[in-house]
Amino acid sequence: MGLNTNTRVPSSGRIAIFGTTSGIAREVSRAFVREGHDLVLIGRSAEALRAEAADLEVRGNRPVPVCVWDLLDRQHHAERFAELVSNTELSGVFFAAGVLYPEKDLENDGDLTRHLFDMNLTETIVVLNLFAHHLQRQGGGFLSVLSSVAGDRGRAANKTYGASKAGLTAYLEGLRAAMQGTGVRVQTVKPGPVRTPMTDGYKGPAILLAEPEAVARDIVRGIRSGKAVVYTPGFWRLVMAIIRALPESLARKVPG
Ligand SMILES: NC(=O)c1ccc[n+]([C@@H]2O[C@H](COP(=O)([O-])OP(=O)(O)OC[C@H]3O[C@@H](n4cnc5c(N)ncnc54)[C@H](OP(=O)(O)O)[C@@H]3O)[C@@H](O)[C@H]2O)c1
Repeated sequence: MGLNTNTRVPSSGRIAIFGTTSGIAREVSRAFVREGHDLVLIGRSAEALRAEAADLEVRGNRPVPVCVWDLLDRQHHAERFAELVSNTELSGVFFAAGVLYPEKDLENDGDLTRHLFDMNLTETIVVLNLFAHHLQRQGGGFLSVLSSVAGDRGRAANKTYGASKAGLTAYLEGLRAAMQGTGVRVQTVKPGPVRTPMTDGYKGPAILLAEPEAVARDIVRGIRSGKAVVYTPGFWRLVMAIIRALPESLARKVPG
């Protein structure tokens, strides 16, 4: 698989966007299309996929195929995947599907907690394994996956969501090690709060709420340069290094 001289994104094949309708993925898709990449869009609603594809086809003046795939439809992962790769050569995957619920709701609802872990961890790992092994067989490509700064340290306000992202971050680190030398590059993306439907009702400081366009630029730049871990906005790398270094007795006192 060829690489452009100035980018680590393979020059042939389509980039699969899993969770196309996510506020962050939408901007990442637009940025890829601006750079002339071909995409295939994956999501659970055929209607929403068609709308996104129509918009990107106008922007990029090239066809954008779609694939209906519900991350919780575990019986059909192998089938959906086989259909996708039988029609499409992939150069990489950007994975954005995920959920966040208020901690209070999760504390009082075991089914909601199981649903969050199924989405953010269990089924995500099952599906990422399919893509990773496929790219490995193919001889290369990238997997860029949205985890979160919330996975870097346990906090009272989002301990359950944070635990799901901590698990995903650990899995991605292991996958990166497993894929070493195969040509498959695995990237962990750790955004702070981003203005998307997921953060409707965000009550933190406005200055910390990043715009999805800026986050998308960081992600695409990170994929291009082959970065293993992308914090976005970039200041979160330093902030989280400090927060991770705090003893638990002090970390507990950090507001939020
Ligand atoms: N926004 C933030 O502040 C922030 C910060 C750090 C990390 N993140 C992470 O970034 C990722 C994207 O976040 P976002 O803010 O862009 O989220 P968002 O706008 O709420 O989008 C969530 C995405 O997940 C998809 N999804 C939900 N259930 C699904 C299912 N069963 N099968 C397939 N797709 C499903 C949604 O599809 P539908 O349109 O069909 O519902 C949507 O595309 C998530 O993993 C999130 O945890 C977000």
